Amino acid sequence: MSLIIESLVFSYENTGNKIINDFSAEFSGDRITALTGRNGVGKTTLSRLIMGILEPQSGEIILDGENMKDKTLAERGRLIGYVMQNPARQIFSSSVEEEIDYGLKNLGLSQEEREKRTTQYLEYFGMESYRKSFPFLLSHGEKQRLVLAAILAMKPKYLILDEPTASLDLKRRAFLGEHLKGLDCGVIIISHDAEFIRTYCDEVVAMEKVYE
Ligand SMILES: Nc1ncnc2c1ncn2[C@@H]1O[C@H](COP(=O)(O)OP(=O)(O)O)[C@@H](O)[C@H]1O
Ligand SMILES: [Mg+2]
Repeated sequence: MSLIIESLVFSYENTGNKIINDFSAEFSGDRITALTGRNGVGKTTLSRLIMGILEPQSGEIILDGENMKDKTLAERGRLIGYVMQNPARQIFSSSVEEEIDYGLKNLGLSQEEREKRTTQYLEYFGMESYRKSFPFLLSHGEKQRLVLAAILAMKPKYLILDEPTASLDLKRRAFLGEHLKGLDCGVIIISHDAEFIRTYCDEVVAMEKVYE
């Protein structure tokens, strides 16, 4: 399993600056990769390009030999899960279990399979007792775990997390790191957190600003 970025070029229309200027990288799915780089270098922009939320001016994104250009936004969303820096913005359901079930319904899974996966991922993230809870009352760390559970229940090939440790204390950071290590999908973690990267990531891809 691999995610290959080839000669990606992107600029936001309103400014015209080439934020991503001929960027290439290869991520292999059996590792946890840290994506690092200074603030404003384009890490979040790159993840939006990978998800298909933004369109590059040129370049290719290839997941397991399949060019993402040929996929719809929804198909890409199923293949690649994206946890935003502020996961609260991704939550829209009125209960924890509904939040997970929503994506599973979209996959067209049976009731039985949906319930099985919901339970499995809630248990994985230690959230079983929150099943009926109102998601907006959860703590930041719990919201993040809920978003992760909802995404992973759909079994994506890749998972991208944008600065996931930023507002977590040490204990929750370790919990997240251990649980990311146990996944069987490719993981890209956008992070500045040197200690977390050292402990939980297998490789580092560093983005640098390239001037024309
Ligand atoms: N919607 C936007 N329109 C124009 N410029 C943007 C937009 N979003 C981000 N940028 C600019 O693109 C650059 C890269 O931003 P970003 O991808 O958020 O960086 P990072 O995640 O590495 O901190 C920054 O200079 C930022 O100001
Ligand atoms: Mg960012």
